[in-house]
Amino acid sequence: MAVELNHTIVHVRNKEASAQFYAEILGLPAPRRYGPFQVVELSNGISLDFMDAEGDHAPQHYAFLVCNDEWDAIFGRIRDRKLDYYADPFGHEPGKHNTHDGGRGVYWRDPDGNSLEIITVPYGGWASSV
Ligand SMILES: [Fe+2]
Repeated sequence: MAVELNHTIVHVRNKEASAQFYAEILGLPAPRRYGPFQVVELSNGISLDFMDAEGDHAPQHYAFLVCNDEWDAIFGRIRDRKLDYYADPFGHEPGKHNTHDGGRGVYWRDPDGNSLEIITVPYGGWASSV
């Protein structure tokens, strides 16, 4: 059996607020509760399981592969909310997006400072089917 990532726990200060933020900005179904988690389901069967945590955590990075229409919608919501966004992961190119690998990409932050990214083409381009 192939090994697939199924879920990951995202430690945040407020799981309800963070899960809602992800669902709204990415245009995903409303979060559901599962045990101590607020769960956001992604389109490929992977879930982000938000859990309240005390103290500071090293910022994590979550990148989402989306189609062009979704990219436009998400980028629109980032701008509507007046969130800071960048063309690069270090924040050196504010207010811009990138066109790496022939697609479009942009970075922004969640309420806990985690780095988020949407791309329309995977890093390195689409794998060629040989
Ligand atoms: Fe990335």
